[in-house]
Amino acid sequence: MRKVKIFDTTLRDGEQAPGCSMHVEEKCEMAHRLERLGVDVIEAGFAAASPGDAEAIAAVATRVKETAVASLARANKHDIDASYAALKGAASPLLHVVISTSDLHIEHKLRMTRQQVLEAIAESAAYAHSLCPDVEYSFEDATRSDRAFLAECVRIALKVGASTVNIPDTVGYAVPAEMADLISYLRREVPELEGKGLSTHCHNDMGLAVANSVAAVSAGATQVECTVNGIGERAGNAALEEIVMALRTRADVFGVETGVNTKQIYRASRTLSRITGIPVPPNKAIVGSNAFAHESGIHQHGILADRRTYEIIAPADVGAGDEKIVLGKHSGRHAFEEYLQSLGYAFDQARIDDFFADFKALCDRKKEISSDDVEAIIMHKAAAIPEVYTLSAFVVNSGNVISSTATVTLDRQGEKREGVAMGDGPVDAAFKAVESVTGLKMKLDDYSIRSVSEGGDALGEVSIRVTCGDRQYIGKGLSTDIIESSLLAYVNAVNRILASDRRDENA
Ligand code: KIV
Ligand code: ZN
Repeated sequence: MRKVKIFDTTLRDGEQAPGCSMHVEEKCEMAHRLERLGVDVIEAGFAAASPGDAEAIAAVATRVKETAVASLARANKHDIDASYAALKGAASPLLHVVISTSDLHIEHKLRMTRQQVLEAIAESAAYAHSLCPDVEYSFEDATRSDRAFLAECVRIALKVGASTVNIPDTVGYAVPAEMADLISYLRREVPELEGKGLSTHCHNDMGLAVANSVAAVSAGATQVECTVNGIGERAGNAALEEIVMALRTRADVFGVETGVNTKQIYRASRTLSRITGIPVPPNKAIVGSNAFAHESGIHQHGILADRRTYEIIAPADVGAGDEKIVLGKHSGRHAFEEYLQSLGYAFDQARIDDFFADFKALCDRKKEISSDDVEAIIMHKAAAIPEVYTLSAFVVNSGNVISSTATVTLDRQGEKREGVAMGDGPVDAAFKAVESVTGLKMKLDDYSIRSVSEGGDALGEVSIRVTCGDRQYIGKGLSTDIIESSLLAYVNAVNRILASDRRDENA
């Protein structure tokens, strides 16, 4: 069967979604998941965008061993050099260069002529190729570009060294038949494409990103660009899990395969959701919590008789339902370490000791520990951001006949600082007490709490979104006590604000 490559851009285009920006360690954690998932390329960021982005790409590049790592660059030497420098440590680096090709973008965004665009492609693709053997060239807004001009751009990029060309539907304007037709047109008009990569990159503005991607594959595209859970600018990018499972489930129609280990899909989806704090909608195809639930009696009856009556994908095929009880209070360090290995983690002894201590502490508060609990513990520590403040102690008084008050003690690098505040409910009072310590003005935009596993003693994971200055930040906290997890999330957001302030100062 023909192999279609999966180019994952969760850490670049996905990260551009509001509130989805990820810290270095979070990107590395997600890259680790993507590598286990078996994608062909991990696009780790846009190096020239900021020193923080370059640092994260470099960290991902050195840690990922099996998968190609890409960095985006505009068609100029400065951007390409920044990408190349960030990718230095990668086992398989890929330089991804982009320029717009629609007249709308050429005139109003680039303020160039078509001729200048052709020259810029020739120069930048050749320069990128002189540094790195693997170069992908993207033509932004390709689906609204003049086809003959687009074909000329593709020809030039291939001639001077691009190994793959990418046809993005940047604003989600295309419809499936048109996307397929464009891919067929390019294959017909540009014979130089033979043996080279032909990629597609679709946005979801009309909800057609996945349909357009698989239509492109039907017409001969050799690669699809996508993101886990479909995160991305505006309505998002094409969802990786939907594309992979559509191509696999209907291999009879598409006649292609991917290298993705589908059993890792569910875990990759949950890891991303935990990192970004953006919950997966219950009805989301493939990874939503209802994706395999059968509520109506008729369906349940059919499923009991033969699962195929109402099930086209078995939950186990995407690794759903794997989050069962795995460990308990009698599990020893050895069992815990083996379990971490089975999840694909390779931590040093000191870190394992640290996680094991947290695991034991959780066992005292919770009878049965699921794989989700263990992953939640690891994620909150492994992908931790540098901490200026830590939560030391708190007392909250609340009820429906008294005003809520909170006393919160934070530790700022060894020094204890206490804040006292009244608020509209216990969480509000606790947040105000933190604010009185840090002096940071934060507006709470969103607050959500999710139970990591089942039962009254479950870990509660709080995700918040706050605005400070003109930027949005997320914060996450985990505890069996929901006031504590709320406070941990708020302090986590404070530390993210301070970490990004420091990055800006160093820029
Ligand atoms: O949507 C787009 O056009 C892009 C390119 C940079 C590939 O993200
Ligand atoms: Zn995009």
